[in-house]
Amino acid sequence: MIRYYGKLAGYGKAVPEKIITNQELAERIDTSDEWITERTGIKERHVVREDEHCSELATEASRRAMDKAGITAEEVDLIIVATSSPDYLTPPVSSQVQHNLGANNAGAFVMVVGCTGFVYALVTADQFIRSGQYRNIIVVGVEVTSRNVDWNDRNTCVLFGDGAAAVVLQRTETETGLITHHLGSDGSGFEHIIQVAGGTRNSVTHKSLDEGLQFLQMNGREVFKFASVIMGQALKKVVDEAGYTIDEIDLFIPHQANARIIEFAAKQAGLPAEKVFVNVDKYGNTSAASVPIAIAEAFEQNRLKEGDLLALVAFGSGLTWGSCLFRV
Ligand SMILES: CC(C)(COP(=O)(O)OP(=O)(O)OC[C@H]1O[C@@H](n2cnc3c(N)ncnc32)[C@H](O)[C@@H]1OP(=O)(O)O)[C@@H](O)C(=O)NCCC(=O)NCCS
Repeated sequence: MIRYYGKLAGYGKAVPEKIITNQELAERIDTSDEWITERTGIKERHVVREDEHCSELATEASRRAMDKAGITAEEVDLIIVATSSPDYLTPPVSSQVQHNLGANNAGAFVMVVGCTGFVYALVTADQFIRSGQYRNIIVVGVEVTSRNVDWNDRNTCVLFGDGAAAVVLQRTETETGLITHHLGSDGSGFEHIIQVAGGTRNSVTHKSLDEGLQFLQMNGREVFKFASVIMGQALKKVVDEAGYTIDEIDLFIPHQANARIIEFAAKQAGLPAEKVFVNVDKYGNTSAASVPIAIAEAFEQNRLKEGDLLALVAFGSGLTWGSCLFRV
């Protein structure tokens, strides 16, 4: 029987040019570069201009990934866009991306799994490849969280940034790609990262706007506790299940939310710093875009090459988490 695998055939990122430094934030709200750096490791973040949008960033990242993979728009079978900050609640932004690309043979859908979205989307794409159904799938992580945070709320606005990155997963008969994965969810923590108004439970009203309920709210301390434990656990689970050891991992790309959480997880797992990819200092938390942006940069910096064993772990709202071991 023929077995199919999903090869990482291309990658690309698209990050807005505009940068806001900690210093600039400190001039606008009651915070400081020292506080942000010490607690999070973040130094600056990219944010969209008024005329830049989620669909455009996702399209640009997808184009770059397609170029690297050497495929045309007609060859794309499916587009999965992981995001929690689409242009509109309806229609799905995935169809805008599909249209912009001219990918007229592709199906397209959105996955809303907070910062874990890209890992969920990658694992989903792999199932379509393994089934033999599709040959080329674009998986995009994209966020414009800067439009969802209250820029007067120092608890949240200092943490997030905007950006997009995409990969092309391509069908091959050579054994490669996803080895093991683990997807998790614990909805009992649903209130820890939440946008209260804007869904159907609390639609946007004058009252909800006056109360600022359209903005992202976060219980940082609870999320920190959850993330510190789950990162290490989720990593260990996929490594154990695959019958590998931690030493065999060539590069660990964790969700870039907070440098302290990353350090803690790497230490727990026994991974040396040189095997851990960190760029949260430059981008802040780009949510569903954080893992693919890191993948793209790891390739650009020659820290990732064909044949490497890559470990991905993400966590986010839901609460959710996901991890995978991937042969590049
Ligand atoms: C948000 C986070 C950085 C806060 O760090 P912390 O060490 O937990 O800080 P605390 O919650 O103890 O807050 C300490 C104080 O700093 C204040 N503070 C919060 N944000 C601040 C800021 N940007 N600048 C200065 N002070 C700030 C708080 O108001 C609090 O003051 P108080 O004690 O007078 O109430 C940290 O909890 C965190 O990173 N959590 C995880 C967030 C995350 O990863 N979210 C994304 C999930 S995908």
